[in-house]
This record gives sequence, C-alpha cells and structure tokens, in this order.
Amino acid sequence: MNNFNFYSPTHFVFGKNRENEVGTFVKRFGGTRVLIHFGGGSVVKSGLLNRVKTSLAAENIYFTELGGVLPNPRSGLVYKGIEICKQENIDFILAVGGGSVIDSSKAIALGALYDGDFWDFYMGKLVEKALPVATILTISAAGSEGSTGSVITHENGMLKRAANSDALRPVFSVLNPELTCTLPNYQTACGATDMMAHVMERYFTNTQNVEITDRLCEGILLTVIKETPKALADSTNYESRANIMWAGMVAHNDICGVGRDQDWSSHQMEHELSGLYDVAHGAGLAVIFPAWMKYVMNHNVMRFAQFAVRVWGCEMDFQSPEKTAIQGIERYEQFMTSIGMPIRFSELGAKAEDIPTLVKTMQLGNRTLGSFVKLTEEDVRKIYELAV
Ligand code: NZQ
Ligand code: ZN
Repeated sequence: MNNFNFYSPTHFVFGKNRENEVGTFVKRFGGTRVLIHFGGGSVVKSGLLNRVKTSLAAENIYFTELGGVLPNPRSGLVYKGIEICKQENIDFILAVGGGSVIDSSKAIALGALYDGDFWDFYMGKLVEKALPVATILTISAAGSEGSTGSVITHENGMLKRAANSDALRPVFSVLNPELTCTLPNYQTACGATDMMAHVMERYFTNTQNVEITDRLCEGILLTVIKETPKALADSTNYESRANIMWAGMVAHNDICGVGRDQDWSSHQMEHELSGLYDVAHGAGLAVIFPAWMKYVMNHNVMRFAQFAVRVWGCEMDFQSPEKTAIQGIERYEQFMTSIGMPIRFSELGAKAEDIPTLVKTMQLGNRTLGSFVKLTEEDVRKIYELAV
C-alpha cells in the first residue's frame, strides 16, 4: 500500500426531511450571506427550493439566488456567480441540485476569492482557498457532495476540465434519499454508471496488496448492481435510494482509493465526449469503460479475472483466466444495457469521424494518460475506435 493523506471533513446530514435543517447548519458553519445556486428547475418544481429558503429565513440568514446551471456546467454562469458574490459580499454558497450545480458552486467559490480568471484553476493552478460550499443533493451520481473535484466546461472551445483540492470539499452535505425519487430512470442509471466508474478508476491499479480498498470497492459495486434495478423498477423505493445515495458518496470521497495508484483515463476520455456532444457523463462512461477494459485487460489479466469473479459472480477458469476476464467485461456491458445505458458510440450519438477531434481536444501531446496502462494519443484513438 502506498503512503497517503486522507482528509475528508464534510459533515453529512443524512435522511428523510433533513433539508429542513439547512438553516441551522449554514449558521453552524458560519454562513451569514448565502448564494443559493441551482439548476434548470427540478428543485423549483419539487418545492425543495422553497423549503430551503424557509429554513434560511427562519435563522434570519440573508440569501440571494442564482439558478440555471446546465448539466455539464458552463463557465458563463460561473462568471456571473462570481460577480454576484463580489458585489453582495457573499460568504457561503449553498448548492441545491446534482453534480453540475455543486461543481458550478465550487467554481464560483474559487473565483470569489481570486482576482484573476477562475479558469486558471481548471488549467492546473494550485487551489489554496475557496468560499465554503454546502450541498443539498438531488441526484446520486458524481459524488461531488463529498469530493475534492469540480468539473466545468469553458464555453470558449467547449473544453471540459477539472480542478481538485481539499478546499473544495463541501463543509456539509444534506443527503435525503427521498429527494432522488423524482429522477427520470435515465438519470438514475447514469448516476449508477458514474459511481461504478469512480470505483473502477480506483480498482484497476498497479499497486499490490490493497485488499482493504479492493474489498471496499467490490462492496460498493455489488451494492450499486443490486439496488439500481430496484430503484428503476420502483422510483420511490426509499431503501434502495438510500443505499445508492451513500454508495455514490463513498465511491468518490476517496475512502476506497487511498493508498493505491488510480487510473482516471476513462474519465478524461469521457469528458471529451460530453464536451463535444453534451451527453450525460454517466452515459459517456458506459460507452468508454468497456472499450478501455478490452484494450488494457492483458496488462493484468488476473485483476480483471478477480473483478469478474468477485463482482460479477463469474467462475474462475484457471486454465484460461483471460476467458474469465472477458466474461466479466461482458457482464458489465450486459448490466449497462439492462439499466438502459448506451455501450456504443452510435447509441450515444457520437460519430467515428469525430475521433480525431476528440483526441486533439484532449491536448495530450507527448504526455500519457492514466496509470494502470499509460496511454499515448495513439492508444486513446484506438480505444475510441473500439467504442464505435
Ligand atoms: O437542472 P435540473 O432541473 O435540476 O435537472 C437535473 C439535470 O437535468 C436533473 N435532476 C437532478 N436532480 C433531480 C433531477 N431531475 C428530477 N429530480 C431530481 N431530484 O438531472 C439532470 C442531471 O443533473 P447533473 O447535476 O448534471 O447530474 P450529475 O450529478 O450526474 O452531474 C454531472 C456532472 O458532474 C461531473 C460530470 O462531468 C458532469 O459535468 N462530475 C463531477 C465530479 C466531481 N465534482 O467530483 C466527478 C465526476 O466524475 C463527474 O465528472
Ligand atoms: Zn464521474
């Protein structure tokens, strides 16, 4: 196991109706002038936004609001949010929504304390400080409610890039599984795919003897595989929603990734897809992951065979572990199809003729991508081709 630091200070407020306590939590974490940030309207329609405002008002906390975050959040609204924060002396940002709203909030939180262009942090500048961000999560997926990350698409060139820092971990996150009951099945499935991907980016590692995190990863995957079909069959199944919600958090706050090298090449390849086609991140991952697996499998066939046996219940073929490994990848693809996810370019609306553009916008140059297998531009092109 590698040396590591793990600092995950987010306070989680989990369960039914907990959003009604948001005012007291904002106060407890020092917020006095709050920007409420939200998306395209689901929180207005569900009445959640009103409940949040009532709770803040009950604590006499000043607030202003900024809605309109799009899935795959854009830079334009971030600039607007930063301006509001500076003009109104905002000291706390409350994200009410999914990963896109949370990531946009984190970007605003960075920019509000910075004189330059917030985009600098998405091009590699070290993040040192940000306004405190809290979240009320409405979709189990990206894990941004407990993660260090924020992913934004810059409208100039539609570049989708990430910033990462412990300073971006939310100070508190309200997780009420009931709030996810209004999700369309497609979004529930995209979310499940994303959290599985967060685990697999960590699972396929070259680090030896990481049994504890292997087992945590497998536990999360098994849970998502068991509970997602139940939530799809009955969107109001609270227990399934609850298990999925916590799975999404532990899949990405890094508790299952510490002490091991992590890959993340599939995420980068997906970000190019959602940058170009504006597709849901989870759906893009469902297309990229099987292609990546097939391409890198022989680098460590026993790890893929372990994945097949422990996660998908395949029988180990000791004569030919490769066969077992392939079975595992096939089972993963079948599961994706069964929950309504695309697994090929055409099902996603992506085109083979755009592959050179996808590779070019990644701006890899002479660098390599990922860690399990270090991919060159040529490897990346071949993986996209395998996904066609
Ligand atoms: O905008 P509204 O109207 O709220 O609708 C949203 C949106 O259309 C809808 N939705 C959310 N909660 C709902 C609901 N509809 C009905 N009922 C509810 N309760 O769902 C749609 C998708 O929302 P979005 O926030 O985009 O989904 P998600 O949480 O999957 O976030 C995706 C973004 O997160 C990034 C992705 O790249 C993508 O941009 N990621 C962020 C990460 C991080 N910060 O750590 C890591 C991830 O790997 C990922 O890259
Ligand atoms: Zn993801």
